Amino acid sequence: MTHTVPAAPLFGEAAPIEASPQTLAFLARRRSASALTLTAPAPSDAELATLLRLATRVPDHGKLSPWRFVVLKGEAKARFVAGLESIAAGRPDGAKLQAKLGKIKAPPLTVAVISRLFPGAEIPEWEQRLSAGAVCMTLITAAQAMGYGANWITDWYAYDEAAGRLLGLREGERVAGFVHLGTSADTPLERVRPDVEAIVEEWAG
Ligand SMILES: Cc1cc2nc3c(=O)[nH]c(=O)nc-3n(C[C@H](O)[C@H](O)[C@H](O)COP(=O)(O)O)c2cc1C
Repeated sequence: MTHTVPAAPLFGEAAPIEASPQTLAFLARRRSASALTLTAPAPSDAELATLLRLATRVPDHGKLSPWRFVVLKGEAKARFVAGLESIAAGRPDGAKLQAKLGKIKAPPLTVAVISRLFPGAEIPEWEQRLSAGAVCMTLITAAQAMGYGANWITDWYAYDEAAGRLLGLREGERVAGFVHLGTSADTPLERVRPDVEAIVEEWAG
């Protein structure tokens, strides 16, 4: 697949606000793919570089870039999964934990979005973490706009200390999401959605 993605504007360059009906139509029907259905081809290295560039175009209070990426692919990804399997095997609920690994085993490419924390910064931790969520969302949106299937999951290994060490988490870092990427073998079906009116109120004082 070839995708023409414009270069980022230069610093200070005008970035006009323009209507994008195509983006609205895309968002109206955007849907994650099940991680279990993700197969090759994954985004190429060049496409992934573009996706990561787009994913970092998110609101970021204080311009801290409180996030980073760990790309899991090929042989190294298989070793990471094998490491998770051995962590799971040592746990009392190992069988249950192992059964959850299908979602990271199947997809040909996974990007771990790591939320970094700048503890000395004036920006509250909550806001730094939220920015990492925005990165995850932009990454799946951009991947889907390129025609790939994408799924943002956490699962037990996002919270497990030993899994964090295996991934290479540093002080203050947390996994915002494992973003799985590939080609969806199935057409995703629409899921249950909230009744938006039920969660909207107009503040009246
Ligand atoms: C932070 C976060 C963590 C998630 N973790 C999981 C998970 O561990 N397992 C899972 O099946 N889905 C998980 N999901 C949900 C998937 O992303 C799910 O496929 C998604 O809600 C589909 O919605 P969409 O089609 O609107 O993108 C998570 C979602 C978020 C935002």
